[in-house]
Amino acid sequence: MIKKLTAIWIIPLFLWIQCGTDNPKEVYEAEVFEQAAVVTAHPIASKIGAEILEKGGNAVDAAVAVKFALAVVYPNAGNLGGGGFLVYRTHQGEYNTLDFREKAPHRADKDMYLDDQKNPIEDLSLYSELASGVPGSVAGMAEAHSKYGTMEWSELLKPSIELAKNGFKITKRQAKEFNHYQKRFKKLNPSGAAIIKDDPWVEGDLFIQTELAETLVRIGEFGADGFYKGETAELIVQQMQQGNGIITLEDLESYEAIWREPIVGDYKNYKIISMPPPSSGGVALLALLQSVEPLPISSWGFQSDSTVRAMVEAERRIYADRAMHLGDPDFFDVPVEQLVNKNFNMERMKQVDLTQATPSKEVRATYFPGYYYEEPEETTHFSIVDAAGNAISLTTTINDSYGSGVWVKGAGFLLNNEMDDFSIKPGTPNMYGLLGGVANAIEPNKRMLSAMTPTIVEKDNELFMVVGTPGGSTIITSVFQTILNVTEFGMTAKESVEAPRFHHQWKPDRIDVEESAIDSSTRAALNQAGYNIHPRGAIGRVEAIVVQKDGKLQVGADPRGDDAAYGF
Ligand code: GLY
Repeated sequence: MIKKLTAIWIIPLFLWIQCGTDNPKEVYEAEVFEQAAVVTAHPIASKIGAEILEKGGNAVDAAVAVKFALAVVYPNAGNLGGGGFLVYRTHQGEYNTLDFREKAPHRADKDMYLDDQKNPIEDLSLYSELASGVPGSVAGMAEAHSKYGTMEWSELLKPSIELAKNGFKITKRQAKEFNHYQKRFKKLNPSGAAIIKDDPWVEGDLFIQTELAETLVRIGEFGADGFYKGETAELIVQQMQQGNGIITLEDLESYEAIWREPIVGDYKNYKIISMPPPSSGGVALLALLQSVEPLPISSWGFQSDSTVRAMVEAERRIYADRAMHLGDPDFFDVPVEQLVNKNFNMERMKQVDLTQATPSKEVRATYFPGYYYEEPEETTHFSIVDAAGNAISLTTTINDSYGSGVWVKGAGFLLNNEMDDFSIKPGTPNMYGLLGGVANAIEPNKRMLSAMTPTIVEKDNELFMVVGTPGGSTIITSVFQTILNVTEFGMTAKESVEAPRFHHQWKPDRIDVEESAIDSSTRAALNQAGYNIHPRGAIGRVEAIVVQKDGKLQVGADPRGDDAAYGF
């Protein structure tokens, strides 16, 4: 396999001098690595992660360093002001999942985004201080590190502190995005923010974030307390008081990341380990895989008419169930076992007519006796495997690109607008067009439903794949397709990530397709059978690692962004 070696050949020598390592390894960018790999949305973050692994840190150490680095170099989604989920698998085959999702402030109310006539007030759940849930990212990293980390916490913060203090050169894509959002940033932050600039940003501009560096120093020194207590917490609350926000010091101090029982199930001879509620990702992913398992999709072929129909009909039904049944399990009884039951999913697919589209209006969420029933993008992911074989799959978000657009004055970071992931009014779609009901209604301290699907796949009890993506509602179907691309269509990690994608989410009743997804004759056949094809831009930014038979690590860094893989 061709290695795209880059200018960082000098790094081994540099590291050797810096850390006195006896046997420094090469940290470089490539498509296959012998021992360890880090795939993220930004080359600087990937390199930092690989350097931590090279110094002897494990996958969790690298994840912590990458997470904080992304908060600096990838402000649209890497974050301090948001939350996420991670799936961890040790090289001995034990696994665990951590929920560091944002939660509703204790003063939240189910009607908080509605006017007197009970209609949603435009943008209130999206672009204001009120749009933010209590952030979980820093608590999540501290919790993961205290359970599994091996390196000093403060060491893991150092690279991101340096980056924030000294700045880094923004990419062409970032310059374009920063400029695109200037109007919103200026409106929401009249007293300025590091990302606000009078002249347009251009590729190669140095992005220095002094206030963020100071916040990272406090986190490096005091751990999670450096964020949830003291100066940072006070700055967040002051920012709330500048606008209409309701997050209090008590909300921040009481925030906890929660270890949850992973969603685990078989797909053929693979074992899928993914995120349970409050993410819908693991449940929906497994239900999708179970639905197509009996079907000969590998012989039907990649994005053939039959394959697309089967996948879309499964997606339509599973997203209908998602809207009805999925929510924070600490507040709502989620029928997880029923939804990821192989017989249930296989039997349901047997009833589906694969010659004609089933109109979504005829598809209702499944009734499970005893469970509630009534009619009723921007995120980022990284995948890491260390030299010992420990693996981590982590997806994190502030919801929309650049979250609520509110920059915490003095603390230097953006806050999330994750409250929009709640069902702000049953039957009203959120920014991803997703519907929800009582299961995902706003309640004080409740965690909003997510689609994030950080996932690890085993084959014959060995680590096989680490995968995940951003993309709001399309996260689940992108992970679904990437797994099938490898397991059914024989693609490498790189090919599986690069392959064009499509998506159906029950409502609206249409197949969203990337430009090169589904060839024109298949599109015509699908149209004929009642499917509405809806072209759109890029779907997701998948970061995947696949373990080859020889133990080497194939990597897929999504070309839809600036994504890169580093390792050794
Ligand atoms: N904010 C997108 C998600 O959590 O699914």
